[in-house]
Amino acid sequence: MAMANEAPVLEVTDLSLRYQTRQGEVQAVEGVSFELAQGQSLGLVGESGCGKTSVATCLMRLLPENARLAGGQVSLGGTDLLGLDEEEMRAYRWRRIAMVFQAAMNSLDPVHRVGQQIIEAIEAHGMETTMADARERVARLFRMVGLDPQLMDRYPHEFSGGMRQRAVIAMALSCDPDVIIADEPTTALDVIVQDRILRELKLVQRELRMGMIYISHDIGVVAEVTDRIGVMYAGRLVELGDTADVFRSPMHPYTAALMSSFPSVHGERLPLVGLAGEPPNLIDPPAGCPFHPRCRYADEICRTEFPARANRGDQWAACWHPLDAAVSANGCQDGCG
Ligand SMILES: Nc1ncnc2c1ncn2[C@@H]1O[C@H](COP(=O)(O)OP(=O)(O)O)[C@@H](O)[C@H]1O
Ligand SMILES: [Mg+2]
Repeated sequence: MAMANEAPVLEVTDLSLRYQTRQGEVQAVEGVSFELAQGQSLGLVGESGCGKTSVATCLMRLLPENARLAGGQVSLGGTDLLGLDEEEMRAYRWRRIAMVFQAAMNSLDPVHRVGQQIIEAIEAHGMETTMADARERVARLFRMVGLDPQLMDRYPHEFSGGMRQRAVIAMALSCDPDVIIADEPTTALDVIVQDRILRELKLVQRELRMGMIYISHDIGVVAEVTDRIGVMYAGRLVELGDTADVFRSPMHPYTAALMSSFPSVHGERLPLVGLAGEPPNLIDPPAGCPFHPRCRYADEICRTEFPARANRGDQWAACWHPLDAAVSANGCQDGCG
């Protein structure tokens, strides 16, 4: 459910990011804007390479050397994070906005006890605690993410993959952030464990009233945990709306194609329907709508002009030929009948 009346805790405006490479400049993020209310969860979905992780690393200000911010604002509780110097940013990163990285379960230090690593994270981010308080805090975090607190003095190799992932989530929660970003946090895990962790993450997010940005290439997974969904393609946000609305009637043909290829975390994977080919090379993206080479509805204007926004209530899509609500609700957007 969207909480439209609350002031957003996070406001991203016209964010653009480039990477310098020997082949040329990669336009990884292009004019991305969205808001996140306190206690709300937003999913970012799209195929691999569409810029999801790049958006997240902008928000955390953890950009690689070859990255260049080309514009935009990231306002967290009214402060533009992109305008802070590195020292000022340290008061926000992990404490106000935290992230669980892709494949983070492999990032625990093998030679230190899991609980100790979380205590060190708490101390490193400037939280004053005694050892007893810190251990109590870790125990609470462990319980929150579904880990037995008695396991806090074990080493990472004594944990399963799912338990390590839970520990990394606990670490990201350790400074009680306003916003947590989870970047494909369960992709490496089997479906049952993935599903359980998702449920717990959602409960914790609700309980702590955190804002959450949940990133996945799997729109079915995103739908399980988010209030709103943003669909990214070729570095752009191409559709945004309440999860229920987007699922009931996607407006962008790309969203519809993603939905037909990922039915749900419970269902079987269906073959990709109506989505042939690959996302474009972001060094030289197509003119007009970047999706036009793969889109069955593309015509002249799609090949030449970036689409204006089409609105339907709180939902919008950057598309010249948005899907009709009645048609897409029947799942017949690909011309059945
Ligand atoms: N450090 C980097 N240097 C150059 N290109 C990069 C770098 N990181 C990502 N990219 C490119 O930026 C685009 C977006 O990548 P990314 O944000 O990782 O997408 P996603 O998370 O959706 O898979 C891709 O074309 C990717 O190859
Ligand atoms: Mg990624």
